[in-house]
Amino acid sequence: MSRSRCIEIIGSPVLRRVSQPFDLSVGTGPLLELVGEMERLMASERGLGLAAPQAGENVRVFILDSSSLDTSGHRVFVNPAIEPYGPVCRIEEGCLSIPGLYEEVRRPSNCRLSAMDERGIRFELDLGGMAARAAQHENDHLDGILFVDRLGSLRRRLLRRRLEAMAETAGNEPDRRV
Ligand code: NI
Repeated sequence: MSRSRCIEIIGSPVLRRVSQPFDLSVGTGPLLELVGEMERLMASERGLGLAAPQAGENVRVFILDSSSLDTSGHRVFVNPAIEPYGPVCRIEEGCLSIPGLYEEVRRPSNCRLSAMDERGIRFELDLGGMAARAAQHENDHLDGILFVDRLGSLRRRLLRRRLEAMAETAGNEPDRRV
């Protein structure tokens, strides 16, 4: 039976674990159930993407909003391998697990992705623009990395209090890695 999930907020240990590959050997049922919940959460918060740890599951799955991002129609990315490339650029990012915070983050402009879709079929994609940005952000979640980790040390120090307050409001311990 499905249970109702909510989005994990900074301070939640699930956001800091390295996620395990998703086991598709049992069929796509559990994947479709998880992805359905993730789609619901992403839509309710009007996000561009969501990673499974944000829905409380430490598995290597993320989704991207293919109606807003140029992903050649792909929405579901299972066990992805990502290879960023291109000039590093600064673009403002936000995260549903760090509500209300938007900061410029430096990342390569493009990425190549290999992943499986919701049917378990492998595909490859070459992304640019906001899609490349979102894919790198979501893929980071699978390794327990948050976008604030990629800010300069001074900026992180300035944000520490605010992030602690955010964790406390959500009923979490402060995130010790920020
Ligand atoms: Ni995020």
